[in-house]
Amino acid sequence: MRFVVVGAGGIGGWLGARLAAAGHEVALVARGAHLAALRADGLHLHSPAGDVVVRPVQASDDAAALGPADVVLLAVKTWQLPALLPALGPLIGPGTAVLTTQNGVEAPHQVARAYGRDAVLPGTAKIFAEIEAPGRIRHVGGPGLLTYGEWDDRRTDRVERLREALTGAGVAALVPDDIWAELWTKFLFVVPLGGLSAATGATTGVLRSRPGTRALLAELMGEIQAVAAAHGVVLPADVVAATLAFLDQQPAAGRTSLHRDIHSGRPSELDAWTGAVVRLAAATGTPAPRHAMLYELLAARLGQDAADRAVAGAPEDRGPAAAHN
Ligand SMILES: NC(=O)c1ccc[n+]([C@@H]2O[C@H](COP(=O)([O-])OP(=O)(O)OC[C@H]3O[C@@H](n4cnc5c(N)ncnc54)[C@H](OP(=O)(O)O)[C@@H]3O)[C@@H](O)[C@H]2O)c1
Repeated sequence: MRFVVVGAGGIGGWLGARLAAAGHEVALVARGAHLAALRADGLHLHSPAGDVVVRPVQASDDAAALGPADVVLLAVKTWQLPALLPALGPLIGPGTAVLTTQNGVEAPHQVARAYGRDAVLPGTAKIFAEIEAPGRIRHVGGPGLLTYGEWDDRRTDRVERLREALTGAGVAALVPDDIWAELWTKFLFVVPLGGLSAATGATTGVLRSRPGTRALLAELMGEIQAVAAAHGVVLPADVVAATLAFLDQQPAAGRTSLHRDIHSGRPSELDAWTGAVVRLAAATGTPAPRHAMLYELLAARLGQDAADRAVAGAPEDRGPAAAHN
């Protein structure tokens, strides 16, 4: 199969390296120093499941130069997607599948609005992977599982062919009975934890063991369960208890990408996570007061950080906000 990976970072670099190493044709959309390193020295994946070097790699910052794909693996951050979407047209022919990997529940809809539902395979990744240096991806932990399906959960040929390609490349692949329930269940895990860790700076271990913050996590999860139901996605009755049990198995010292991004002054997925819950709740008249408050607290902090940077006159100087760390 011919794959084009759009956004060759933690997720895209992991998938691209595994698929290329298994003999599939893989082209990468990347930019800046990462693109230069990919062209000069190839794509390096460091992983507990085995290292891979792909050299040479076909890579460009211009999607149009890479031509149509059987599968587009869309692996940019949520906030990078809207600006990128118009450029994806040349990659998408009849039958091309665009697999979304973003944490959140809105990316498949954004792609569908641009290219139609038939083009989209909503997906979600379970792994922790990151760019450790230009051209170099590190699979830090997690099972390395990609879960995806057709919009309406049909078992199509392309879904099965993709599963064969992924499993043959050493990527665990799951085509569930209800892909939307999978996306919302992941959302219900990452958003409460992300929001609370970003707001407090506390680790997973602290948030889950203090009775008050554990109860808050459960209440935030319950709000998402209700918003999912209002959008026609019925999650298992015990989803909150099961998610808390899963949370109990995670490393105590861990923090979320939302916490890391906000605390280091980088753009974050706040709008696609907590912000999306607030939007999707409002659209259906579903109460989500805890998410509304968390969103306002975090958005106010980001606004203050931006104001501090403007006063300091240098984007890299976070001024008084650095004290938050
Ligand atoms: N990483 C994980 O372990 C993990 C696990 C589960 C889910 N996810 C989800 O997967 C999504 C991707 O996360 P990630 O951690 O893989 O992100 P990432 O490491 O930041 O990778 C995104 C890559 O896309 C590139 N990119 C963005 N816009 C581009 C453009 N217009 N042209 C070329 N390259 C572009 C970025 O380049 P720049 O750096 O230049 O912007 C970056 O290299 C997120 O929604 C995240 O929540 C991640």
